[in-house]
Amino acid sequence: MLLQIIDSINGIRQVLKTFKKSNFQIGFVPTMGALHDGHLSLIREARKENDVVAVSIFVNPLQFGENEDFHHYPRPFENDRLLLSKEKVDILFYPGKEEIYPETFSTSISIKKLENKLCGKSRPGHFSGVATIVLKLFNIVKPDVVYFGQKDFQQTVIIKKMVSDLNVDTKIKVLPIVRDKDGLALSSRNAYLNNDERKEALCLFKALTKAKIMIDSGVTISGEIVNEMKCTIKEYKLARVDYISIVDKNTLEDVEYAKSGDVIALAVKIRNTRLIDNLIIPSLLFILYTITLLLKDSI
Ligand code: PAJ
Repeated sequence: MLLQIIDSINGIRQVLKTFKKSNFQIGFVPTMGALHDGHLSLIREARKENDVVAVSIFVNPLQFGENEDFHHYPRPFENDRLLLSKEKVDILFYPGKEEIYPETFSTSISIKKLENKLCGKSRPGHFSGVATIVLKLFNIVKPDVVYFGQKDFQQTVIIKKMVSDLNVDTKIKVLPIVRDKDGLALSSRNAYLNNDERKEALCLFKALTKAKIMIDSGVTISGEIVNEMKCTIKEYKLARVDYISIVDKNTLEDVEYAKSGDVIALAVKIRNTRLIDNLIIPSLLFILYTITLLLKDSI
C-alpha cells in the first residue's frame, strides 16, 4: 500500500474505520519528525507486528517552554516522507496546529508526582503537554499497539501511568535506545551540534558507561555513582549538567542504593543544546552472562 498523507482528524478516522472493520491490527508511532534511526527502529517493529502502520508527525507546541526551541525544531518534511515510504508505512498523520488545537482548546492532562521530576524540574509543563497530545492522538488513531523509545524514559513512565489511570485501551511497547557508533543516543536535536559540540556530547554516554563499570564492580551507593558521573562530565568544557539521578523505574523517586531495574537518567546542556540519556541497570544474571561471554572469548 502507498503512503497516505492525511492532515485532518476526520480524514484519518475515515481511513482507519475501514481497516478496523476488517479487524486489522493497527500499530502507531507518534513523532515530531526529523526522523532518524531511533524513530525508524520503532517503525520497523510496528511494521513487523501489525497489519497497518500509522505514524504521526506533529511538533507539539504544548510541550515546549517559552524559551525553548519550538520555532527552530527541524522540520525536514520531504526527507521524512521518503523515509516513511521506504519503511512501507501506510498512513502519515500530519496535521496543522489549528487542527489539533483550535482556538477554543482548553483541556490538559496532568500526571501528578511524575511530571515534576527529572526533566520536569527544568521543563515545567513539558510532560503535561506531552500527555495531552499523546492522549489526543490515541483518541484520534485508536491504535492497538503504540511504540515509544526508552530514550525518553520519563515520557514512557508518564504515558504508561496515564494509560493505566484513564483505562486507555492501547498496548504500550518501549524499545531500546538506538545510538551512533560512538555511543551518542540518536536525537533530532543532535542536528543542532557543531563539530566541537558533537564531540562533547559524548560525555552523557561516557558518564553512563562509568556508572555501569562502577555497578558491575559492586558499587551500589547512588551518591558515589552520581558524583563520579559528574566528575566524568566536568572533563568536557562545553557541558553543563542539568541533573543526574538514579531512580525507581515506576515512581521516578531517587534511590539510595542502585539495584537492577533502577534507571540512571541524566540531562546535560552542550552549550545551548539540552541532551538526555539513560541506562536501565541490567539484572545481575545479565551481568554474569556478559562476563561469562567475555571470559569465553579470552580463553
Ligand atoms: P520525538 O522526539 O520525535 O520521538 C518520537 C519517538 O521516538 C519517542 O518515542 C522517542 O522516545 C523515540 N526515540 C527518539 N530517539 C530515539 C532513540 N535514539 N532510540 C529509540 N527511540 C528513540 O517523543 C516525542 O517525539 C514527542 O514527545 C511525542 C511522543 C511525539 C509527543 O509529541
